[in-house]
Amino acid sequence: MAIIYNESKKTFSLQTLNTTYQLKIGNLNYVKHLFYGPRINDEDLIYLIRRYDRGFSGNPYDSLKERTFSLDAQPQEFTTQQQGDFRINSIEVQNADGSFSFNGRYVSHKIYSGAFTLNGLPTAFATENDTVDTLEVVIEDAVTHVAVTLLYSVFEEKDIIMRAARVHNGGEGMIRLKRIMSMNMDYLNGQNLDLISLPGRYGQERQVERQMLTHHVHKIRSGRGISSHQQNPFIALAERTATEEYGSCYGFSLMYSGSFLAEVELDQYDQARLVMGINDRLFSYHLEAGEDFDTPAVLMTYTHKGLARMSHRYHDFFRDNLNRSKFVMDVQRPVLLNTWEAAFFDFDDVKLLKIAKAAKDMGVEMIVMDDGWFGKRDDDNSGLGDWFVNENKIKCGLPSLVEQINALGMKFGIWFEPEMVSEDSDLFRAHPDWAMEIPGRRAVRSRNQLALDVSRREVQDYLIESINRILDSANIYYVKWDINRAITDLWSNDLPGDQQGEVSHRYVLGLYRVMDGIIKTHPDIMFEGCAGGGGRFDPAMLTYFVQYWSSDNTRPLDNLKLHYGSSFVYPISSMGAHVSTASPMVPIETKAAIAMCGTFGYELDATHLSEEAVARCKAMSDLYHKYYDLNFFGDYYRLANPFEPVNLVAWETRAKDMREALVTVVTVNLTMNGPQEYIKCKGLIPDQRYRVEGDGNVFFASGMALMHAGIPIPREVPEFTAFMYHLTAVE
Ligand code: DGJ
Repeated sequence: MAIIYNESKKTFSLQTLNTTYQLKIGNLNYVKHLFYGPRINDEDLIYLIRRYDRGFSGNPYDSLKERTFSLDAQPQEFTTQQQGDFRINSIEVQNADGSFSFNGRYVSHKIYSGAFTLNGLPTAFATENDTVDTLEVVIEDAVTHVAVTLLYSVFEEKDIIMRAARVHNGGEGMIRLKRIMSMNMDYLNGQNLDLISLPGRYGQERQVERQMLTHHVHKIRSGRGISSHQQNPFIALAERTATEEYGSCYGFSLMYSGSFLAEVELDQYDQARLVMGINDRLFSYHLEAGEDFDTPAVLMTYTHKGLARMSHRYHDFFRDNLNRSKFVMDVQRPVLLNTWEAAFFDFDDVKLLKIAKAAKDMGVEMIVMDDGWFGKRDDDNSGLGDWFVNENKIKCGLPSLVEQINALGMKFGIWFEPEMVSEDSDLFRAHPDWAMEIPGRRAVRSRNQLALDVSRREVQDYLIESINRILDSANIYYVKWDINRAITDLWSNDLPGDQQGEVSHRYVLGLYRVMDGIIKTHPDIMFEGCAGGGGRFDPAMLTYFVQYWSSDNTRPLDNLKLHYGSSFVYPISSMGAHVSTASPMVPIETKAAIAMCGTFGYELDATHLSEEAVARCKAMSDLYHKYYDLNFFGDYYRLANPFEPVNLVAWETRAKDMREALVTVVTVNLTMNGPQEYIKCKGLIPDQRYRVEGDGNVFFASGMALMHAGIPIPREVPEFTAFMYHLTAVE
C-alpha cells in the first residue's frame, strides 16, 4: 500500500519509491500539509510547525481566543475563503445566500487501490507494472454543506502523485464557483525557491525561464482557450542551487487543454504557496443542489537529484501512463513526409503521387496530406467545417488516392481542423449559430476563421460523424489534428446568460468528448496533435495524441532551444520534428540529427531534391530507425544549454540498462583557432568500458572518463556540423 494512514496521529503518508507526501487532520479538523520531499518513514512531521501570535492574521472563531492559530500562517492542503488566510487560495464560491465563504473541515476519507478518474476529463492510468493507490479526503463547510473531495493517486514506482479536486453542492440552493483550483501546495520555506516555466510565442514555443520567488504573486497562465504557445501548463519549483544533477525540484504538470492558471506566492513569512488549475478569468460555474464539479488533474513529482531526474520521471510517466495507443510502445512510427511546406494549398492527386514516388527513395514511409483537400479550400479563407473531399483536387477520390500511395509501399495520413469554421463554408451557411459569437457583436476573426461552439452537443455530434465518415472511407493510417486560432467571444447559444462563464471549460469538455468519439474509436490510427505548431501541447492532449507537432518553426537552430525547453517535461517520443528547406546553410545531416530529438520526418517537396540529397536523406531516415529505441525509450540528458552563449549544443539519450547511448553535438559557434572543447556524457556506468563511434573515429574509454573528461569535439569543421556519437558497452 502506497498510502499509510496513522490513526492515532491522524497523518496520511503518501509513499512513492523515493518520495513522501504527508498531510494531517489538524486542529479544528483543518487538513494541514506537512511535507513533500525525499522518502521518510511513517513519522509525524507536525513538529515542523511552530505557532506564533501573528498581528493582523486572525484566528478562527472556534480556536477559542487562541491567538497563535491562524490560517494565514498555517500550511494547508486546500485553502479556504474568508477564514483569515489572505494568501492566494484554492476555491472561491458564492453560496446560495449570496455570501462568499467556504470553511472546509475534514469530515471523512477513504483509501482504495487504483487511480481515480474524473468526469469528462482525461487522467493517467496504472499499467500492470504499477502499484497505484488513491486517497480521497473530504472537507466540508458545516453551514452550506458544500464539500470538496481532495483526490490523490500515488504511482509508487513512478514517483508521481496525481491530484485533483471534486466539489459537491450538498446544500439546498444553487452555488457559483468563481475559482476552483486542482491543487494547493504550501511550502514552509519558500525563500530559496526558483520558479521555472516554459514561456514562448507562436513559432518559438517552450523556451525556459528561471526566476527567483519574490514577495508577490507570480502568475503563469493562458486565457486563450487553449493551453497556448505563450505559456505551457507546467512549472517547476527548484532550490536556488539546484542543477541538472543535484538539488530539490518539484514539478507540476496540469492535464488540461484550455485556459489555465498557475500561481505562486511568496508570503510575508517567506512561506510559498502554489495553486494550479482552470484559469478563473471569465470563469464562473453554477452548481445546482446535488451536483458535482471535477477539476482537471495535476501530475506532481519531487526529486532531490536535480532537474534531469525530474524530467526522467515525467518522460517515463508520459510514455507509460497516458496513452494506450499501440504507437506509443509497440509499433514503430513511420518516417513521414508532410505536404504542408512542400505544397501549401497548391496540390492535387497527381502532384501528391509525384511527391510520394520521389520521397520513397528518401526512406519516407508515409505521406501526410495536410490542409487543403476538403470543401472549397484553395487558401486559408474558406472551407473549414466542410469535411468532404474536394474532387477538383483529389480527382481520383480519396480511396483511390490512398490505394495508389499504398501501392508504392507507403502509408497515408490526412489533416483536419475540427474545431473551426470558415464563414465561406457550407457548414457556416447552414448553421451560423454554431460559431462562437456574442449576440449583438461580431466575433474576432483570426486567420479569417471562427471557432465552433464545441461545448454544444449537436456540434460535437456533427464533428464526430463527419470526420469518422472520412476516416472510415479509406485506408488511413495517420491523422494530424490541428487548431489555428485562440478562442475568443465566449458565448454559447445553448446556455442561459447567467451561465456564460462556463463556456470556456465546457468547450474543453466538449473537445474531449469529440476526441473520444473519433480517436478512441480508431485505435489503429496514429493521431498527432497540432495547434499552429505547439500551441496546445499538454499532457491531456497526450492521452489522445501519441505525438504533438512541436512548432511551425522548422528552422533547425531554433529547434535546439525548443527541444531543450520541451524536454523539461515532454519526452522525445512526443515531439513532432521535421527536416525542411528552412535555413539552407544548415546541412541535411544536422537538420536530421536535430529532428531526431523528436519524432522525425520531412516537410519538403521531394521532387525538388537532387539525387545526392535524396541519398543523404535516406541515410538519415535509416539512422532514425537504427536509434529508434534509444531515442524513444531511453533516458534523455541535456548536456549543453542553448540559452547560454555556448559554442556547442549537445544532448544524450541513454538506454535504461546504461549499456548504450547516443550523444548528439551541434556546432553553433566555432571561432577560428579556438580551444579544444569537450562534451561530458551523463548516466554511464563509471567502470564500464565503452566503444565510442562518431566524427569518423572509433575510440574506447570508461564511463568515468566519458562523464568527467568528456568527448573531444573536432573544431576545424564547417559551421553547424552535427556529430552523433554512438556509445556501446564492451567487455
Ligand atoms: C498549422 C500547422 O502547424 C501547419 O503544420 C499546417 O498544418 C497548417 N496549420 C495548415 O493550415
